[in-house]
Amino acid sequence: MSVTVPPSGSRGVRFPRFLARLGNRFMVWQFGRRGGRTQGGVDGLLLETVGARTGEPRRAVLGYLAEGDDAWLVIAALAGAARHPAWLHNLAQQPDATIQFDDGRRVEVRAETLEGDDLDEAWKRIGLDAPEYAQELDLRWRVLRQPLGFAPDAVVFPFEAESLHLVALDGGRVVGCVLFHPEGPESGRLFQMAVEPDRQGTRLGTRLVRTLEAELARRGYREVILHARDTAVGFYAGLGYVPVGPPYSEVGIPHQNMRRALQPRS
Ligand SMILES: CC(C)(COP(=O)(O)OP(=O)(O)OC[C@H]1O[C@@H](n2cnc3c(N)ncnc32)[C@H](O)[C@@H]1OP(=O)(O)O)[C@@H](O)C(=O)NCCC(=O)NCCS
Repeated sequence: MSVTVPPSGSRGVRFPRFLARLGNRFMVWQFGRRGGRTQGGVDGLLLETVGARTGEPRRAVLGYLAEGDDAWLVIAALAGAARHPAWLHNLAQQPDATIQFDDGRRVEVRAETLEGDDLDEAWKRIGLDAPEYAQELDLRWRVLRQPLGFAPDAVVFPFEAESLHLVALDGGRVVGCVLFHPEGPESGRLFQMAVEPDRQGTRLGTRLVRTLEAELARRGYREVILHARDTAVGFYAGLGYVPVGPPYSEVGIPHQNMRRALQPRS
């Protein structure tokens, strides 16, 4: 059990070091005064590490998910930058650290990097606990299920955690979404496609489908299938989806299965 530093990413947001340092200092200052919510709206803790190069104490505010009473899951993401946060390098050298919560509670911890099944399970929890997921569910309910008279929980599918969720954000607000459930090594189902009513007809749906398809092609998928409502058949047809089989009824409205082959990425 140890902390590993994977290779840096090849793409990611540009995040100059001085800005990262400034942002960190501000968040630590704010943590002391206003308590532990991160910019993204998740619970935050203050991590104290030992600087890998300087040996000086270093502090960073991180969002976390509690894993029982004595473990906390954090993500070394640095706001999506290609490189890693300094605290990951610090923990790789000295995994013994201290965390502090906004009620002043301090806990001695030993950091470890998750791998294999543990990492897969953690990703599922991270996704389902994300504030964007709650917004995505709300959008799906309002656009797809409420008009049909269903209750909010009717929007949750049994295979949510195994599905890929793509959301369109505008100023932190989820304004569109589409999901994909793998149903074979090279094929799967696009489902729960929804665009905020005041954004419909602005090509957001098109961008969501095309972005999803590009990611699926990158992951080696060759085919997307979907159950189109009859009112959306024209939308999908415009994106190259062709009808398969006869129309049928689902959630009380007419549907048509459609499919599209994806071009493998060269
Ligand atoms: C269907 C939906 C996802 C499309 O997203 P959108 O952002 O509104 O669509 P876009 O602006 O990208 O439209 C792209 C093209 O499809 C056309 N289009 C959009 N909806 C259409 C429909 N229902 N029937 C026929 N054509 C449609 C648009 O006119 C546009 O055509 P153009 O390229 O000639 O201008 C969105 O309108 C929506 O959320 N609808 C309600 C929920 C729904 O039906 N979801 C699908 C469930 S299977």
